[in-house]
Order: sequence, then structure tokens, then C-alpha cells
Amino acid sequence: MKGIILAGGKGTRLYPNTISVSKQLLPVYDKPLIYYPLSILLLARIREILIISTPEDIEHYKKLLGDGSRIGVRFTYAVQDRPRGLADAFILGEGFIGKDSVCLILGDNVFYGQFFSTTLDEAKRQAEKDGATIFGYPVKDPREFGVVEFDKNNRVLSIEEKPQEPKSNYAVPGLYFYNNEVVEIAKHVQPSARGELEITAVNNEYLRRGKLRVTLMGRGMAWLDTGSPNGMHKASSFVKAVQEMQGFYISCIEEIAWRRGFITTEQMRTLGEELKMTEYGQYLMSLAEETK
Ligand code: G1P
Repeated sequence: MKGIILAGGKGTRLYPNTISVSKQLLPVYDKPLIYYPLSILLLARIREILIISTPEDIEHYKKLLGDGSRIGVRFTYAVQDRPRGLADAFILGEGFIGKDSVCLILGDNVFYGQFFSTTLDEAKRQAEKDGATIFGYPVKDPREFGVVEFDKNNRVLSIEEKPQEPKSNYAVPGLYFYNNEVVEIAKHVQPSARGELEITAVNNEYLRRGKLRVTLMGRGMAWLDTGSPNGMHKASSFVKAVQEMQGFYISCIEEIAWRRGFITTEQMRTLGEELKMTEYGQYLMSLAEETK
């Protein structure tokens, strides 16, 4: 399975922070926002990853992440010259996806929770087999999101984009697993009223084909909003609180690459040494020590 991170957009709700810097490069506590969705792909053992951003910002992502060899993965980059919607990722990414299945994650979505890797493995397996897996996350006010309605057997009944009268309080987070059909489906999507190729239209086509599965995220799962200064602040506080309490880092991409066996302990130690002036670097070095 391939992975795509969509890190475009203007981030206008975070102005002036994002006038000259891409939103997904802003810090959430001690690391750039994009590390959080990236770590989800790594947890799902996805090692070929396409990063899509704007013409102005793409160079900054290349500088931050390089070709991926440092953490044992491969990054490819593509430019989206204007925001055409989430489904455009599969059109831009057609050559990259090839005949494979694909996971799309939005560059500003932060997830954290126990046993999430099991959930990811299952979603991946299902999509690879035949179809699509999306998620449902309970929120107080779902009107700003895609909203999924389902029956008591979790069979999807409808999905609507930003409905005024939501049929459930389950929002669809920005994490989607698809089989290869998604490329053809995306090409046939018509622009919505806001002029975008909506991911909800893609999901509705899977629903029509009887191939859409929804997995519900429960109370123990955090899906953090980074859409506003307040959301960014809360996400930072959350990461800081959990890290200080447990001593484990959230979304430390080098650690995940090491735990997944993409890099050796020695490689991780070297990455840690490069950052040894920070707690982040010292954390990596301490992990390498522990396993001696
Ligand atoms: C997009 C999707 C929406 C989804 C949300 C998750 O919304 O269109 O269905 O619930 O991401 O972050 P947008 O951020 O484009 O408003």
C-alpha cells in the first residue's frame, strides 16, 4: 500500500502565522505538525509516501524530510498549483499509486490512542482486499465535517459533506484507506458548490458500489483539531502533557521507523546525536541505549 499526505491549503484561519509558512510545518509542541500524520502512515507500515503541497511550500517539505532514506522510507513530492479538493490527490498521484492500494491522510490531522496500530492494520487489510475504509469520530458539532450515518451493524447509510442538519454526530476524520479503484473514481468526481473535488463524493461512490466500510473510533482515541490558534494550542498542550507523564514521545518518526524495523538501532542513535542539543535528540539516544 502507498501513502499520500496532503499538505496544501492556505491555512487562512491561522493568519498571520501561516502567511509565509505552510500550516503543516508549524510546531505542535516539539515537532512540526506534519510529523503527526506521517507517523500514522509509518505505524501502518507504509513506506512509499507522496507529499503534496503548494508550489511555494514544497521546497520546505523537501528540506525537512528529504528522500526519506534517513528513516528507511521513500518520499516523493508533487505540487498542487491550487486547492482543487482532497480527491485531486488521487489524480495528481496516479503515477505514484500505479496498481497499488492507497492511504490518504490530511497533513493537519493528529491522532493518538492505544491500540491504534491494530485498527490501522485492519483498515489496511480490508482496503487491500476490496474497497474502502473510513472512520467515524464522535464530535459535539459535526457540521464542519463530512458526516457518516450508519445502522446498528455499522453499515454505512449515508455520508454528507458539512450538512446543516447532520444525521449523526460522527465526523469523518482525514484518514482514508482505498483500493486501486479510487483513481478512476476520483477522475469522475464533479466539483462541488465550493468548487472542489470532495472526498465525500469518492466515499459516496464506494457506498453506491457496496464497498464502503466505517470503523468507529471510541472514547480512548484523540483526534485533535488544528484548524485554529486555539486548536493548535490545545494540541500542543495535549502532546506535552502525555509526553511528560509517560516519558514516551508522540509521533516521533525516528522511533516509529526503528520500532517498525525500517532502521537499525545504530542508525537511530546517529539521528539522535545530530539533534543532541534538544530533548528530542536525547530521547532517541536514550532509546538506543536501552536496547544495548
Ligand atoms: C475535509 C473533508 C471532510 C473531513 C475533514 C476532516 O474538510 O472534506 O469531509 O471531515 O476534512 O479534517 P475540509 O478540511 O476540506 O473543510
